[in-house]
Amino acid sequence: MSAAASPAQVLQIDERVASVVREGLGLRPKRLPAWLFYDCVGSKLFDAITRLPEYYLTRTERGIFLEASEQIIERASSGRRLRIAELGAGSADKTRLLLQAAVTRQRSVLYEPVDVSASALDLAKRRIEREIRGVTVMPRVMDYTDGDDHKFHLGPMDEDESRLVLYIGSSIGNFEPHQAARLLRRVRAGLEIGDAILLGIDLVKDEATLLTAYNDAAGVTAAFNRNVLVRLNRELDADFDVEAFAHRAVWNKAASRIEMHLESRIAQQVNIGALDFAVEFAAGETIHTENSYKYQPGQVETLLAETGFRAEATFADPRGWFAVCLGRAN
Ligand code: TRP
Repeated sequence: MSAAASPAQVLQIDERVASVVREGLGLRPKRLPAWLFYDCVGSKLFDAITRLPEYYLTRTERGIFLEASEQIIERASSGRRLRIAELGAGSADKTRLLLQAAVTRQRSVLYEPVDVSASALDLAKRRIEREIRGVTVMPRVMDYTDGDDHKFHLGPMDEDESRLVLYIGSSIGNFEPHQAARLLRRVRAGLEIGDAILLGIDLVKDEATLLTAYNDAAGVTAAFNRNVLVRLNRELDADFDVEAFAHRAVWNKAASRIEMHLESRIAQQVNIGALDFAVEFAAGETIHTENSYKYQPGQVETLLAETGFRAEATFADPRGWFAVCLGRAN
């Protein structure tokens, strides 16, 4: 055995990760893109976040679906058979309420989850087809957040069908408003007149409730945020002392968004081995990792109207914390 193959030399570097890290940590203030959260560990941590007592979003949206799935499916279909597509399908836990309602109404339904990860989609296919009779899953591997303005190609439909695209979980809130509009226009371009979109969005509420949702007592969100650094240590041979960075959730009222940051507790230098790049941190300096925009009632309807949809119905929980809005492509 030769001693030549040190771990650094066998490290497989993902160029996409390398380039966003080189760029983002060179900015002032420093930034990292949120998609870095979702490696294998990050996806599991996110799943755990959705079950936290403080993280009201998932529970509240599920409550709306428990109450209104039949009505939503009925309104969306307007007399035709529905196909249901979903952007960023994830664990599809809330989606099953809508799928079940569609099966009840039309006996069977085609479900088209859209995701970048083929393996995640395969898993979802097997699980959902086993668990909900009448659902056929047709996974669509694509990056719907991709910058260029290609149409979505979800594939042709039969004469008597129309599509319902789900974009739930307040995912649209993780985009800057202008990017959110751009994404919706792109979705619209891949749809026919009369197709529908269902947008789930978190609403502005008291600051304490917002803040604790992103800074839970058990520290799961903190671990999720810091996992970005763990990932860079592993994938780019960086030497972040993860405990030397604090998780910060901030309510930016002027921008109407929760911001997530990683704050350097001390002045320190971090080396990104694979990039041959040293990064200086002042004590208190932050890396901005995520935004979660919170909408005012009526705002998501405006966004839909600006992007080629007519807002047809909005479903909310009794406290008015979360809104699910049905838009019709026009
Ligand atoms: N869209 C959800 C939200 O903004 C889920 C989410 C995305 C999230 N990134 C996150 C939740 C980071 C917690 C932390 O809440």
